[in-house]
Amino acid sequence: MKITAISRVGHDRIRTAGRDGAPFLLRLEGGGELRASAVIDASGTYTTPSVLGADGLPAYGEAQAAPFVDHALPDVLGADRGSYEGKHTLVVGAGHSAATTLLALAELADTRITWAIRAQNAGRTYGGGGADALPARGALGTRLRAHVDSGRITLAVGFHTYSITEDGGQVTVISRGPSGAEQSVTADRIVAATGYRPDHSIAAELRLDLDPILGSTRALAPLIDPNQHSCGTVPAHGVDELAHPESGYYAVGVKSYGRAPTFLMATGYEQVRSVAAALAGDWEAARDVQLDLPETGVCSSNLAEAQEVRVGLATGISGGLPATPLPLVTADAGGGCCG
Ligand SMILES: Cc1cc2nc3c(=O)[nH]c(=O)nc-3n(C[C@H](O)[C@H](O)[C@H](O)COP(=O)(O)OP(=O)(O)OC[C@H]3O[C@@H](n4cnc5c(N)ncnc54)[C@H](O)[C@@H]3O)c2cc1C
Ligand SMILES: NC(=O)c1ccc[n+]([C@@H]2O[C@H](COP(=O)([O-])OP(=O)(O)OC[C@H]3O[C@@H](n4cnc5c(N)ncnc54)[C@H](OP(=O)(O)O)[C@@H]3O)[C@@H](O)[C@H]2O)c1
Repeated sequence: MKITAISRVGHDRIRTAGRDGAPFLLRLEGGGELRASAVIDASGTYTTPSVLGADGLPAYGEAQAAPFVDHALPDVLGADRGSYEGKHTLVVGAGHSAATTLLALAELADTRITWAIRAQNAGRTYGGGGADALPARGALGTRLRAHVDSGRITLAVGFHTYSITEDGGQVTVISRGPSGAEQSVTADRIVAATGYRPDHSIAAELRLDLDPILGSTRALAPLIDPNQHSCGTVPAHGVDELAHPESGYYAVGVKSYGRAPTFLMATGYEQVRSVAAALAGDWEAARDVQLDLPETGVCSSNLAEAQEVRVGLATGISGGLPATPLPLVTADAGGGCCG
């Protein structure tokens, strides 16, 4: 049963009198409505993947190239095998989804694999290996590194997707980095493993207080900020940090984190327990939040470290920020890029 929109009976977003006592109104896909005294929105972020364009905007030609693009995680060894076997695939992204897809592709014969990341090295994706508190995740990075070292997977670092053009049944992806340097990869398919964004549009008629950077609640944002936190250092939190001005509406799970990539399912379970206790009137249990999180994989380094790796400031990486500022207008800026 898919929910397409949420409001309050008799109350659009602007109407205050009697609001807290009015039931929620939930529209159902295909018709029909539900009424509820509270809403726990655990609808995730999977349906709104992040774009391939490295600056957060779609790359030029990204929409037209959609038939060549799969988002995480295609069933490479199962239903989608025919799309990948014997072909050249470009995998873009630096998280566990990219790693999972790359390892599956490596099992296919006669299949070329290029892996493109924005960072200057793949250390963050390789993660903690045997030291990872989630051993299965640690093993992903260790196996991936072996394929890169052996040449089975070609790694393109500092890859900032700028444009995608189709030609003769293939796509050519151009990277244009902060320094203006270009790289290009021509492939049969692209896997965009670039993460996800929250979609708050179903709750657009409710009164939400969203952090302007992450899209979580404002109270939660400093606790999960990837500039400060890895997955393992997020403090316990619950109903108080998840509350919006709209009483009775809570986004939980990965959607509650907005664009912060620091979510672990253990956190979500504690969120739901806390919110459910509050809705049942047991505020003591609701506020007794506890969490013991593992240090794991990609999350063992935070966003600040990732940014350093991206611009080449981390130990052992040459280069860095361009000495000369980039021109703000380029020759193709007027008419878009690349046809
Ligand atoms: C291969 C893989 C392995 C992973 N391993 C781990 C791990 O070991 N540990 C860990 O912590 N995390 C792991 N993760 C991440 C984890 O799966 C997610 O963080 C987690 O699933 C998020 O849970 P959620 O309930 O918030 O959202 P989801 O699991 O995305 O669930 C959202 C649900 O809401 C439904 N929905 C969406 N929109 C609507 C709507 N409009 N109306 C009604 N229903 C809707 C969806 O159909 C879905 O059932 C892994 C992910 C993958 C892909
Ligand atoms: N087996 C497993 O345990 C498993 C498998 C799959 C997923 N998961 C989990 O599922 C969740 C989602 O994982 P995910 O890998 O899909 O997303 P993710 O963790 O958000 O990783 C996506 C990564 O892609 C990079 N990226 C973003 N936009 C980009 C762009 N335009 N171009 C190039 N790179 C870009 C970012 O790294 P940079 O900022 O460094 O560029 C970002 O960290 C995570 O919690 C993950 O741990 C777990």
